[in-house]
Amino acid sequence: MRKPIVAGNWKMNKSVGEAVELASGIKIDLADCVNVDVVLCPPFTALKAVGDVISGTVMKLGAQNMHWEKEGAYTGEVCAGMLRDLYCRYVILGHSERRAYFHEPDETINLKVKAAIVGAITPILCVGETLEEREGNKTEQVVSAQVRACLKDVGEGAASIVVAYEPVWAIGTGRTATPEQAQEVHALSRGLLADIFDKKTADSIRIQYGGSMKPGNAKELMSQPDIDGGLIGGAALDAGSFVEIVRAAFHNAASEGN
Ligand code: 13P
Repeated sequence: MRKPIVAGNWKMNKSVGEAVELASGIKIDLADCVNVDVVLCPPFTALKAVGDVISGTVMKLGAQNMHWEKEGAYTGEVCAGMLRDLYCRYVILGHSERRAYFHEPDETINLKVKAAIVGAITPILCVGETLEEREGNKTEQVVSAQVRACLKDVGEGAASIVVAYEPVWAIGTGRTATPEQAQEVHALSRGLLADIFDKKTADSIRIQYGGSMKPGNAKELMSQPDIDGGLIGGAALDAGSFVEIVRAAFHNAASEGN
């Protein structure tokens, strides 16, 4: 049975003080959610402060990006070692906003995934199609190409990877994929993972859904057989909403006997 994972992607929001306040609010409420991995991904500037707040709790720290090299002349970048220094256990890679606004191709996302594994940080690899691609019946083709290219030559450590299916048309739009739409792509992705690695590895990889997940739809989405949690944007900026989503994952996991 896969342990669900709910991660809050705070994107470019929150000053250090605001981040501490948000993380502190979440900390109080989550004391009993032990069968769900809960990850907070604040901006780089707030990693240390949020890490201090959640130290000793069930929550883990995640970053929103990293460079694939170990060090060097890469102005403005941070590497896996620097993130680990701050006790980051996860890193979001290949988010559609980075693909769209910063032109990140699958090739460099693949380098990052491999560097994260080597650096003992769990990559959360984001994939997903645009509205135009969905309407052109290209979802399967696009997601397959992304998964294959981003996981190329990933060997050891594959089972620890987290994949996040985030249909671009559902991100920040309030328009969520239906549980059936999401499940279809999750099942497709798991099949691909079995093809790339093997069935055992594919069965252990968590696949999160992301895109306007909120307290009102989280339970239904996460009760789908191949949806193992959520990558939450907007709703993660509110402690109460985020906690409700974690609780939905907790109850699903408990009812499935995790
Ligand atoms: P929203 O939850 O705001 O749609 O964002 C999803 C997302 O991009 C998480 O990475």
